[in-house]
Amino acid sequence: MNRVLKHLGCQYPILQSPMGWIARSQLASAVSDAGGFGMIETSSGEVDNCKQEILKMREITDKPFGVNLPLMLLADDQMIDFVAQQKIRFVTTSAGNPEKYIKRLKDAGIITYHAVANLKGALKAIKAGVDGLIVEGSEGGGFKNPDEVSLLVLLQAIRAHSDIPMIAAGGIVDGNGMAAAFALGAEAVQMGTRFVSCQESPVHENFKQAIVDCEDTGTVIVNRNGRPILRALKTESTNAFVRVNKMPDDTLWKIQQLYFDGDMEASVAIAGQSAGLINQVDTARQIIENTIEQFFSAQQKSAERATKLSF
Ligand SMILES: Cc1cc2nc3c(=O)[nH]c(=O)nc-3n(C[C@H](O)[C@H](O)[C@H](O)COP(=O)(O)O)c2cc1C
Repeated sequence: MNRVLKHLGCQYPILQSPMGWIARSQLASAVSDAGGFGMIETSSGEVDNCKQEILKMREITDKPFGVNLPLMLLADDQMIDFVAQQKIRFVTTSAGNPEKYIKRLKDAGIITYHAVANLKGALKAIKAGVDGLIVEGSEGGGFKNPDEVSLLVLLQAIRAHSDIPMIAAGGIVDGNGMAAAFALGAEAVQMGTRFVSCQESPVHENFKQAIVDCEDTGTVIVNRNGRPILRALKTESTNAFVRVNKMPDDTLWKIQQLYFDGDMEASVAIAGQSAGLINQVDTARQIIENTIEQFFSAQQKSAERATKLSF
């Protein structure tokens, strides 16, 4: 069993990304029940609802799951206290420096992985004492670092400096992407866009269909002259924001209209370049089982292509 899987305690090294409002018990329990690792978000800032979702997970699944703590977005320490009280075994931290919180999390027996987007951030997190890293390439959906580093480069850059356990995120939708990440030292993968568009995801059908219809060139970095910078689907709205490199300040306040009412122009349809690889809406179980099967077949094909006699 690899190191990340030991930390997660689930069957397969596949995590579902934490995603504001989306990564709640309906989706996370489907992923955990299928042998993957469901994550509950707290980036929505809806503290009471997120606490309820964590409690609900305990009722509807007996499988392990984790919680994401976006450090800079936490108004106070109550979510950290709650996670410790609830004896959540695995958290990911993001958006901020884990140094301030790592001792508390470790004292509570919580395994902590920090999300990083470049080598400097990775080295800082390692120094702070995290147990592992979520290595997030710039091709992924979500908030982005202005210095874009692709997953392919980032995994190698980090591995050249440290043997820390890595979970690869960004651009992965199946066993081929998973095999590529493992070849570069990852011991698990995290998928966001793939699970947004799965059957158990709570988002509106319009959003799922837009992901299915998306081509490889169908996403764009939005808000380069503002904060947060993010990757989203190209729509009339995002194309207009890109022309001025800025999105209106209230854009993210309206994101639930897009996610749940299906108004694709109301806000930004956060998604990764991986949308270009997704062709249908599958269940979480289909995604996980197909990914694992394809992963082993990709490993075998790769070994066949790479014998001494082949070049
Ligand atoms: C719709 C959507 C919302 C996201 N929201 C969050 C979030 O709230 N917090 C977070 O840490 N990451 C968020 N992410 C980023 C994911 O955690 C992950 O890094 C990313 O999805 C990986 O790339 P992929 O989409 O190609 O799989 C979001 C991603 C998507 C697609």
